[in-house]
Amino acid sequence: MTKEGILGYPPGPKEKYPGSLLLEFRRNPIKLLMRVAQEYGRIAHIRFGWAHAFLLSDPELIKDVLVTHHQYFIKSRGLQVAKRLLGEGLLTSEFEFHHKQRRLIQPAFHHSRIATYASTMAEYAERMSGQWLRSGLEGKSLDIHREMMRLTLAIVAKTLFNADVEAEAKDVGEALTQVMENFSRLTNPLSPILDRLPLPSNKKFEEAKSKLDSIVYRMIEEHKREEKENKGSSNKNEDLLSMLLAAYEDSNGGNNREMTATQVRDEAMTLFLAGHETTANALTWTWYLLSLNPQAETRLHEELHSVLGGRTPTFDDVPKLEYTNMVITESMRLYPPAWILGRQPIKDYLAYGRYNIPAGSTVLMSQYVMHRQPDFFSDPESFKPERWTAEFKASLPKYCYFPFGAGPRSCIGEPFAWMEMILVLATIAQRWQLRHVPSHRVELLPRITLRPKYGMEMILERRGKTG
Ligand code: HEM
Repeated sequence: MTKEGILGYPPGPKEKYPGSLLLEFRRNPIKLLMRVAQEYGRIAHIRFGWAHAFLLSDPELIKDVLVTHHQYFIKSRGLQVAKRLLGEGLLTSEFEFHHKQRRLIQPAFHHSRIATYASTMAEYAERMSGQWLRSGLEGKSLDIHREMMRLTLAIVAKTLFNADVEAEAKDVGEALTQVMENFSRLTNPLSPILDRLPLPSNKKFEEAKSKLDSIVYRMIEEHKREEKENKGSSNKNEDLLSMLLAAYEDSNGGNNREMTATQVRDEAMTLFLAGHETTANALTWTWYLLSLNPQAETRLHEELHSVLGGRTPTFDDVPKLEYTNMVITESMRLYPPAWILGRQPIKDYLAYGRYNIPAGSTVLMSQYVMHRQPDFFSDPESFKPERWTAEFKASLPKYCYFPFGAGPRSCIGEPFAWMEMILVLATIAQRWQLRHVPSHRVELLPRITLRPKYGMEMILERRGKTG
């Protein structure tokens, strides 16, 4: 067995001193991964101190890990640590248990269910637009990232949990930011020890977690109360939370404790957080890109004018908003909200039949890196929604564009997210033009999701004075 070659590691950057690459990764993970992919190509071995990581930048290998051989991989340490907050929810659980929960939750994301969420999505976007107007924000600058978080949080709470959380939006935002900061410690080799010390950051994490818990438990309790009140009447809740509670009742009534109260909490927490943070980031980056690309913005406005003519979009309009769809597709190419996926092989895995990826190491697949590969996307740094023609999509190798992941662990909320992003963008872009404040610094904050580090200050200019 050799170190490189047959049953050895693939080539990769050498550490200048022990831990130097880990330090580089902690400082700027995207810069390091882009460099490694450029210098070493389809597969690279990265030594992070004592740990071995492998960056895959070949769509075939990505397919191998996420789809063909998914059963030999579990989520990497990042998501294992996320269990501290998400418990055994859909994003973090594994194997048979995950499979069972996915089957249970899937109906909430069927086409027919998603259709019923459309009016809430557009109505809430319209409501935010009206609030901006009534609050005299025309011509003023506003943190659009915070606004998109507020909007997508309200939408996910209403559609999936029939709950109103607007009063708590600020608390949720702050708690989530705190939680993300704690996850940034993941790459610190001492994190397993640091996590156990009585540090202020750990105290803040626990506070953030209990704040989020109190909101999720309040939603659950309110549901239980309503369900009791509505027993026997036709006036029943049919949202996701009701489904989870019904599964809990069934399993307990049948003396089968598979669906516990904690499990209801874990699934609800997962959907509550995963269901708004990513879409908010995608929308924020889309507004930013549109403000930098007036031609694309004009074309978007033309489509909205011809399809909608100023009215609020509905479910039936979504397939007609083709350019709107292309804008979002291109925005998620440049700024994929989930910018990296990590997996851990549970047994040694051979890549290309000759490189050894040992059990327990980390396999990294980065949407950010793949979506900017010149082999697949010409002029990769430019924002060109018009590249997404049907022919281009058909010619693109699968798994080089994968904002929602792939295989059995791909995003369950993908159809929900598409519908929401299109309806929100179409609604607000008919009423407002968002101008990026040139002095405002835009930097990436790659945590679990890709956030704008300093928020997104934009000036609200009103379009068409009738809206
Ligand atoms: C633009 C928006 C979104 C993006 C880019 C996105 C991306 C992703 C990705 C890449 C994964 C796979 C993670 C992995 O393989 O490790 C994932 C999983 C997941 N997403 Fe999303 N997501 C989005 C919106 C949503 C929404 C709206 C919901 C719920 C309402 C949601 C709920 C979930 C859940 C529960 C999982 C875990 C699925 C499983 O493992 O079975 N996501 N998402």
